[in-house]
Amino acid sequence: MQGKRILLIVGGGVAAYKSLEFVRCLKERGASVRAILTKGGAEFVTPLSLSVLTEEKALTDLFDLKDEAEIGHIRLAREADLVVVAPATADLLAKMAHGLADDLATAVLLATDKQVLAVPAMNVRMWEHPATRRNMATLRADGIAFVGPEEGEMACGEYGLGRMAEPEAILAAIERFFGEKPVATSLRARGMPLYGRKVLITSGPTQEPIDPVRYIANRSSGKQGHALARAAAELGAEVTLVSGPVTLPDPEGVKVVRVDTAHEMLAATLAALPADIAICAAAVADWRAADEALQKLKKQPDGSGPSLKLAANPDILATIAKPSENRPRLVVGFAAETENLIENAKGKRLRKGADWIVANDVWPGTGAMGGDRTQVHLITSAGVEDWPPMSKDEMAARLLARAADALSQIRSAAE
Ligand code: CTP
Repeated sequence: MQGKRILLIVGGGVAAYKSLEFVRCLKERGASVRAILTKGGAEFVTPLSLSVLTEEKALTDLFDLKDEAEIGHIRLAREADLVVVAPATADLLAKMAHGLADDLATAVLLATDKQVLAVPAMNVRMWEHPATRRNMATLRADGIAFVGPEEGEMACGEYGLGRMAEPEAILAAIERFFGEKPVATSLRARGMPLYGRKVLITSGPTQEPIDPVRYIANRSSGKQGHALARAAAELGAEVTLVSGPVTLPDPEGVKVVRVDTAHEMLAATLAALPADIAICAAAVADWRAADEALQKLKKQPDGSGPSLKLAANPDILATIAKPSENRPRLVVGFAAETENLIENAKGKRLRKGADWIVANDVWPGTGAMGGDRTQVHLITSAGVEDWPPMSKDEMAARLLARAADALSQIRSAAE
């Protein structure tokens, strides 16, 4: 973090006091910090304490002409390497989601072209309110990254999701953003959105033997599935990756089970249950040779080829999505289609019993198959979300953040 410029926006919540400790940790790691307080933020921590800790004047007012002339909110917004909003109150998130810019903090958030990392903190009912849910979905779709909130006792005496993440968890997210190794893994994991959760991911193709030297397979590279496993681990989950044959390295901090065939993939997947989230990203071969030849098939003297009888493979996604004691609370499938993308994907969601389907166009011209980028549509019971084109890593991070959020909703609904 040495030499990185962090612009910290402090919203008006009780958790604002944590921002002081957070600034101290950032400075310790060599970052330079500039702080902006909202009006509410300045009720909880003084601009003076933030100025002392950041060694820069803490700013509050868009209409402070002197600072406007010297700095300019556009320049402030652009000069940072990363903008962190902590605490991000329900009000501040609502303003961000709607593009309001009526003070310096929100004007900077609207003007910035840099990544924004928000650290929500609010009462559990405010967090669960449909308006906040909508705002969070909008902000996620806009590419805002989030850390927390955590579950626990609140200043208002209630218990639930809404506590601001601890400084270590925020620092870990920043380190990941700058591509740095985390300082302390154990500290990092606690307070992460998927800490204590089990995530199961299938990835890659399967290979179905025809004879000892030949097999049926497909063009899947495993890049998307492996990116999902990495993203889940980065959010603190305990991850099992069941992978078909790929040339990719094993993701760090993930348990990898290597398989060849669809039958082996099914067995390994069932053995990895129970899990909280299952994401089936593998391109499982739909068929296998009905009678695998024990010896290499030979050419016939008349030059005719052998006729291959195929048998259907088990559907792993449909198997684990069936209602049962072991069904993961969130089951996500992929639909790789070359035509009628949305309709086929919607049908697949219902037919296979998945909660969500990630639909992507794999028409050869898109470069999605084997490439590093993807463009997907997320199909849920609520409808279809069109996500912009992005890298497979970004897609994975966004999907896992959504899954963590959904899991917290399922849990609070069950309580
Ligand atoms: N899938 C699976 N097991 C299979 C086939 C597919 O778990 N035997 C999962 C994939 O991992 C993916 C989803 O099902 O999450 C959709 O796979 P896809 O190949 O697109 O669909 P199919 O079931 O093969 O349907 P179709 O061939 O009609 O497109």
